Amino acid sequence: MRQTPFCIFAIIGTIFSLATILYLFPIPKPSFSHLMCHCSAPSTLTPPPRIRTTFQSITALEDLSEEADTNWASLATPKGGFLRVQYNESYVQLWGISMFHQLHCLEMIRMTLQKEMGIKAKGNHHHGGGKGAEHEDDPEHITHCFSYLAQALQCAGDSTIEKPWEAHSRQGYIKVDGVDGLDIVHQCKNTDHMWKAARKSEEKAVETWEWKEGDEIENVFGY
Ligand SMILES: *[C@@H]1O[C@H](CO)[C@@H](O)[C@H](O)[C@H]1NC(C)=O
Repeated sequence: MRQTPFCIFAIIGTIFSLATILYLFPIPKPSFSHLMCHCSAPSTLTPPPRIRTTFQSITALEDLSEEADTNWASLATPKGGFLRVQYNESYVQLWGISMFHQLHCLEMIRMTLQKEMGIKAKGNHHHGGGKGAEHEDDPEHITHCFSYLAQALQCAGDSTIEKPWEAHSRQGYIKVDGVDGLDIVHQCKNTDHMWKAARKSEEKAVETWEWKEGDEIENVFGY
């Protein structure tokens, strides 16, 4: 057992040397920060409080005259509610924000109706969005709106239970009833942050980010 002290010194010496080497030349930790999004995953976000909104007949939006076109235009920013993204130093790319795109689609259907009814001249390239004006007289662009809007409605999935209106006889029996969806309170999403994101990007285009499937204004830009 005369060897033991040497052995202990050798082990301590080796550990000390390794510690010194590791201290002087640390093994770089793997860094994934360049791959990570600066944003949090959508599921971790607390949904904002809903706004109780009573649906009504809004004549300003039901009016098919050209004078009422501005009412529809006012449902998005003057530039159409796009997210303006700085693609490179000289090019700003327009990205869509779905709600504004959906409203625009409905506006296009309204315009098609105006033309069919002779309220608006055909071939009129009036536009609020800035881009894509060329397709507006293209019937295929409008039919795309039908499937797009159908999916948008199903996606939003408003599950409000709509109480029917009733007309009663003098004895109190129901004479007629029906569902018109009017005067019904809905729990609506506050859309202020979507307007804010579009407006801010109009002032100064946003930088590109590592876009991934399912990104929303909320998880990328916050409320
Ligand atoms: C920026 O991108 C646009 C669109 O791809 C391209 O036409 C332009 O040449 C690019 N400019 C620079 C400075 O890279």
